[in-house]
Amino acid sequence: MAILNSNKTLTANNNFSDINASKANFDAIYEMADPRAYFSTLGGLDYMIPDVAEPVLRQLLMARSAAAGTENVILDVGCSYGINAAVHRFPLSFDTLRRRYARRELAALSGEETIRLDRNYFASWPDTGLARYIGLDVSAPAVGYAKSVGLLDDGIVANLEAGPLSVAQAKIARRANVVLATGCVGYVTEKTYNRLLGAMDSPPWIVSFVLRMFPYDRLAAAFSDHGLVTEKLQGATFVQRRFRDENEFMSTIATLEELGIDPSGFEAEGLFQADLYVSRPEKDVRHAPLEEIVTVTSGRNKALGPRYVRVETDEGTQVALEP
Ligand SMILES: C[S@@+](CC[C@H](N)C(=O)[O-])C[C@H]1O[C@@H](n2cnc3c(N)ncnc32)[C@H](O)[C@@H]1O
Repeated sequence: MAILNSNKTLTANNNFSDINASKANFDAIYEMADPRAYFSTLGGLDYMIPDVAEPVLRQLLMARSAAAGTENVILDVGCSYGINAAVHRFPLSFDTLRRRYARRELAALSGEETIRLDRNYFASWPDTGLARYIGLDVSAPAVGYAKSVGLLDDGIVANLEAGPLSVAQAKIARRANVVLATGCVGYVTEKTYNRLLGAMDSPPWIVSFVLRMFPYDRLAAAFSDHGLVTEKLQGATFVQRRFRDENEFMSTIATLEELGIDPSGFEAEGLFQADLYVSRPEKDVRHAPLEEIVTVTSGRNKALGPRYVRVETDEGTQVALEP
């Protein structure tokens, strides 16, 4: 077990807005009425963090509901169009969705028509997830879409970096017992989390996939004030996406080196890499350290040929050949 205290050195340049300057700006695609531009732009850069996070999240959710005996309710921070909910709740991947929206028939639709079809599309899949989803994002259109198509039960549109939750928003946040973030720490800091934790009756599990260039120290310290112990998964990193261009690559490498993080074998290979941090009440960490709960299976999404899979049916266990 690796309890996080201060393994990333605080430097003059650990300010998230300075670090963010090395990343490309994608604000425009977060603000559209539907996710088509999101999938074409980020999909074109092999964005994959929701997919690589999903099997880890599944293991954590099984452990949490077994320990607590309650249904998992996830608050997805920076939920955007509800993509974590889509890939967790349904047998879908970021890539499957990207291909759907890349069809010229889909590209020709109005935003309203896309939402109508997406609502039917998601409703046509069995919900095999282990959680209900609530989302938080600054983008009203993204949260609106995710609610309209049924991916989120509820949503909060707010920038908690700039101001507090309203009473109505706090009531929504209070329902969560897991707080998830993929691709969002960096845009949000401990300010957002302090406000969310302040709205909750009991401390949640906080699961964050965080680009290696964003130091997690201040967040872990804030969580500790709320009685949570933070562990970082050792020996595994999670690919977020390719670099957009040489400029983004070079400035990210420079930022990492300035922070004392060696990019060799990681970002130097051309891919943004995220660490996994999980914060939980101390008794839960003692009961089962992170390394006991999470096993990372490399290559899970790479096998392209048909696979034999086990299917639990009303008639018992059966074997199916999945294309
Ligand atoms: C790279 S996207 C990640 C979306 C999603 N989590 C995923 O992995 O597909 C970053 C998201 O963070 C949101 N965001 C940026 N600043 C935020 C803030 N202060 N509070 C909440 N969300 C924010 C953006 O609107 C965008 O939807």
